[in-house]
Amino acid sequence: MEFFKSLFAAIIISFFLFQVNATNVTHDGRSLIIDGVHRVLISGSIHYPRSTAQMWPDLIRKAKEGGLDTIETYVFWNAHEPIRRQYDFSGNLDLIRFIKTIQDEGLYAVLRIGPYVCAEWNYGGFPVWLHNLPGVSFRTKNDVFMNEMQNFTTLIVDMVKNENLFASQGGPIILAQIENEFGNVMGPYGAGGKEYIQWCSNMAESLGVGVPWIMCQQQDAPKPMINTCNGFYCDEFKPNNPSSPKMWTENWTGWFKSWGGADPYRTAEDLAYSVARFYQKGGTFQNYYMYHGGTNFGRTSGGPYITTTYDYNAPLDEYGNPNQPKWGHLKQLHDVLHSMEYTLTHGDVTNTDLGNSISTTLYSTKEKSSCFLSNAHNQTDAVVKFGGIDYYLPAWSVSILPDCKDEAYNTAKVYAQTSVLVKKPNKAEDEPNSLEWVWRPENIERTAVQGKGDHHANRIIDQKAMANDASDYLWYMTRVELPKDDPLVTGKATLRVTDSGHVLHAYVNGEYIGSQWAQYGSQKYVFEKEVKLNPGKNLISLLSATVGLQNYGPMFDLNVTGVLSPVELVAHKGNGKVVKDLSSHKWSYKVGLDGVANKLYETDCPSKLKWSADSLPVDRNMTWYKTTFKAPLGNAPVVVDLLGLGKGHAWVNGHSLGRYWPSYIADEHACQTAACDYRGAYSDKKCVSKCGEPTQRWYHVPRSFLKDGENTLVLFEEFGGNPSGVQFQTVEIGTACINAHEGKKVALSCHNRPISRINFASFGDPQGVCGSFKKTECESTEDAVSILEKECVGKESCSFEISEDKFGKAYCAVKRLAVEAVC
Ligand code: GAL
Repeated sequence: MEFFKSLFAAIIISFFLFQVNATNVTHDGRSLIIDGVHRVLISGSIHYPRSTAQMWPDLIRKAKEGGLDTIETYVFWNAHEPIRRQYDFSGNLDLIRFIKTIQDEGLYAVLRIGPYVCAEWNYGGFPVWLHNLPGVSFRTKNDVFMNEMQNFTTLIVDMVKNENLFASQGGPIILAQIENEFGNVMGPYGAGGKEYIQWCSNMAESLGVGVPWIMCQQQDAPKPMINTCNGFYCDEFKPNNPSSPKMWTENWTGWFKSWGGADPYRTAEDLAYSVARFYQKGGTFQNYYMYHGGTNFGRTSGGPYITTTYDYNAPLDEYGNPNQPKWGHLKQLHDVLHSMEYTLTHGDVTNTDLGNSISTTLYSTKEKSSCFLSNAHNQTDAVVKFGGIDYYLPAWSVSILPDCKDEAYNTAKVYAQTSVLVKKPNKAEDEPNSLEWVWRPENIERTAVQGKGDHHANRIIDQKAMANDASDYLWYMTRVELPKDDPLVTGKATLRVTDSGHVLHAYVNGEYIGSQWAQYGSQKYVFEKEVKLNPGKNLISLLSATVGLQNYGPMFDLNVTGVLSPVELVAHKGNGKVVKDLSSHKWSYKVGLDGVANKLYETDCPSKLKWSADSLPVDRNMTWYKTTFKAPLGNAPVVVDLLGLGKGHAWVNGHSLGRYWPSYIADEHACQTAACDYRGAYSDKKCVSKCGEPTQRWYHVPRSFLKDGENTLVLFEEFGGNPSGVQFQTVEIGTACINAHEGKKVALSCHNRPISRINFASFGDPQGVCGSFKKTECESTEDAVSILEKECVGKESCSFEISEDKFGKAYCAVKRLAVEAVC
């Protein structure tokens, strides 16, 4: 009896605790309302599998310090259910631990279940087995698809509920998302697509999560789904339903990178401008996509052709360092916006258009008012008279006046420091300058030489259907019997293979004859090569390698990958041609690499296969390389420089670093010669850099992959390269610069390391950018360098006011301070 009494008491207590802790998330047509408070929320996307569990606390702390209220993540179906009904939530896939880390930092979470996510993630997050289910049709009213989608969505919701992680249960999750940008592509799905969206809405609602559901880019989102905006700018966005508040789920902070593409860069000024405009125009929730992009480890990158780095030029870089000035400039914006939460959500709104792309917005309540002044002109600066005061408004900028008088922030005036990160050599004790390698060939005896496969068919099969995403690699092998008088034997013969991407290596009778891969932006190509064919039996072996399965577009899931029909042998006879189509021959298929099957990438490789230290081959394709190294000292992020290698896959201590391809040079013509101008609408082609350089030379090695003592690096080199230049390095801040107008307090920091020197400092109108500042005529004659040496050198950070009092009189019209400090 006593037992039952205490059980009953426990139930009652937990019921009350539960009630007390529950957070009520509602909304009206203007704001998200959390526990009765109308909110201005700033959020940022961090995808848990694109970093490591060990990195999460630090990333989330830096997000909080950067002024975020919320962390948004997708849920990655193909990672969690790699085989139907076999689930994986371990290690970096521990979604619950990730959400709890957000909770521990006191932030809210937004759970974008999808489960289609796009996200430059392999196949948009769909498991490839789903494509291979009989009768399935994706993202439409199809029972097979809907059953699987519901199964996974319910599984996630139940897991999260069991841990009380929805706000309605006292947890941090304030919003949940179903589907993703279906509205952008739904036309071709016709009526089935419309019914599907209604079904998604009903299904999501039936799960009873107790927080609002969102659907992004879904203009016809059924009630009570809230449709939200994605894009570089969303100030003009209006949700379809008057009771939906204005929310922005993806403000793209930069862009993703493709093999062969240049380095994306979105300026801090323009990003801040887009955010300020959004809140000027009545936004209540804005999310940075990405706040931390991270790394596509393993085979997770989508595509095709998405790089291993997913840095995204986000406020936190791939390794978790603040990307300055972006991180700091936005932090200041967030502080100002938060200080105006009440007026923004309750004030009467007066918009005034002053012509010439200048507009003002006044939010007024009885107690106080807040104002925005904005100049949307992409070239002309303006002076705006507002409330009797003149305000200088640079082109393409917004000024924020929390009290409608003092300018607390202008999106084009950057006070945050610029940090220049550098790669430093690995100084671990006893670490030799160059690594010592052993190697072994990939065993192609059974495939290229003998043509033996595990599956057979009299046609060419889509790589997705055959490989089921177990590997990037699939062998297609067939035999041709030729009489000795066949023109293919007696004359000149070529092998012609149509390929849908991404990479093809061809062998004839065990001999390698050549490779081809797609050009940046176009995946389909025809491989054509002269071959020597024998009378009697000939073996054609084609090794196809995918580089991330397509993740976006209407019916993208149906895109065929790998070798296509026809595969032909062409005999050239005089001016004529005789074509032999091999497509309906008997083909043998073999999935994957022999070295992977033998776990060559593992530190203690279980197989008896021998590695050789002799005559290390260079430019040899299909080659495995192995070396050992010591972990760099300290805590700075670690990268491995793979310059000199072709294309392949890298592992450290058995952990995949992802695909590498440093030999793929970024399009030489993609970069403009003109300096990057923050003014005017941003696009992913604007301000890109590093054309003509390897698309990705450095690969992130998370600290948690490393151990004390000996570490192992294994490379599978597919094209042929030279590993002798491979090096481990750390990424550290090299210099910190300030280039800011007078009147503000600024801070200079070497991120936990002391400032060692002031290279340049001048007050007046110094010209140039960080690394190349120069004085002009009107500068102050006071020695700014020694003023700052006293103030900053030897300290990890210092802060000071930019004023004539401190730096002396300068005779320039507009006065700025430029500083370059060495860390
Ligand atoms: C959006 C999509 C995101 C991501 C983004 C580009 O369309 O919703 O998942 O792919 O584009 O980075």
